[in-house]
Amino acid sequence: MVLDKFSRPLKDLRISVTDRCNFRCVYCMPKEVFGSDYNYLSRSEMLSYEEIVRFVRLLVNLGITKVRITGGDPLLRKDIEYLIKMLALIPGLDLTLTTNGSLLTQDKCLALREAGLQRITVSLDSLNNDTFASLNDVEFSVDEVINGINNAASAGLSPIKINMVVMRSVNLASIVPMAKHFRESGHILRFIEYMDVGDSNGWRLDEVVPSSEIVELIGAQLPLEPIAPNYVGEVANRWKYTDGSGEIGLISSVSQPFCGDCSRLRLSARGELFTCLFASSGYDVRSLLRNNASDEKIVDVVSSLWKNRDDRYSELRSKQSHRVSPVEMSYIGG
Ligand code: GTP
Ligand code: 5AD
Ligand code: SF4
Ligand code: SF4
Repeated sequence: MVLDKFSRPLKDLRISVTDRCNFRCVYCMPKEVFGSDYNYLSRSEMLSYEEIVRFVRLLVNLGITKVRITGGDPLLRKDIEYLIKMLALIPGLDLTLTTNGSLLTQDKCLALREAGLQRITVSLDSLNNDTFASLNDVEFSVDEVINGINNAASAGLSPIKINMVVMRSVNLASIVPMAKHFRESGHILRFIEYMDVGDSNGWRLDEVVPSSEIVELIGAQLPLEPIAPNYVGEVANRWKYTDGSGEIGLISSVSQPFCGDCSRLRLSARGELFTCLFASSGYDVRSLLRNNASDEKIVDVVSSLWKNRDDRYSELRSKQSHRVSPVEMSYIGG
């Protein structure tokens, strides 16, 4: 186990496998910035599946127990199930993936499950097509995402978590309908406070709906009570419906930062390591991987990177002066 400057162990690795996405969520990849002339990574710039797997194997020695595949949208990367299959062979890993749900066909879900993916998280910000469209900025219906969620459930990917980012001026009215829809489904809906990640979404504090307000809104119609976290450092605060019809999660990066227990390391598609979602630069492990660095050297580098880590951006947010060229979430992984 390796500890950082605040004694936080390294436990989770989030791997972005592509910086591309077929959605243009206004809080993540706004069209004005991510237009048709945007310069995405080329295939050779991105880590290969073999490079990723080697890296993960090495990090298991440093205490990693959880791997999340993200993007962009990870299902845009060709044959992602091959990567899953290789990662699933590493014993003792909680292996999961976050997607916008647009490519969750029956076949893809079965291939992912067969490859060894255990569970999945799907983003969905509203049940109303107009609201959904104004957030993702593409022609894609709510029903298509719901179909994807159903396909994932039928394939045995479970539990399914649904991520809903809340922006006050856009989808406040979608909170209660979403709660009602996913209650009793067995899926866990999580409400995420809109974050100031990256430099292109034009973040404003008054667009953030604090989790306390969300709990009040839902609780007024469907009584809720808090429940204990599943594990130390869980990002979401859990609440259950008092009638036993399920639970929800609240991810309160703005109103109640959770840096104190942050055990997450991020690997970008280009092979840079970021010790915080809000970091402005990453450590280039791709060069090590491509220049025949020994296993010991790579483990050594990651270990000292983690030991020197003192990130706690969300806790310092209000005191922070503007960050220099922050990294976009679609690049670093959600
Ligand atoms: P589980 O393993 O299912 O509990 O996953 P998780 O709770 O880590 O959830 P997930 O990976 O789906 O993350 C949900 C959302 O929480 C992300 O999309 C981000 O918006 C936010 N988030 C996750 N990790 C961090 C983090 O380290 N810092 C901040 N500020 N936000 C995070
Ligand atoms: N604020 C909060 N969450 C965000 N995500 C992307 N951008 C933001 C943001 N600005 C998260 C969403 C989505 C995942 C892929 O990334 O949770 O589900
Ligand atoms: Fe794509 Fe997810 Fe970002 Fe939306 S939030 S643009 S679906 S990566
Ligand atoms: Fe971890 Fe940085 Fe997020 Fe804090 S802001 S929880 S340190 S990734």
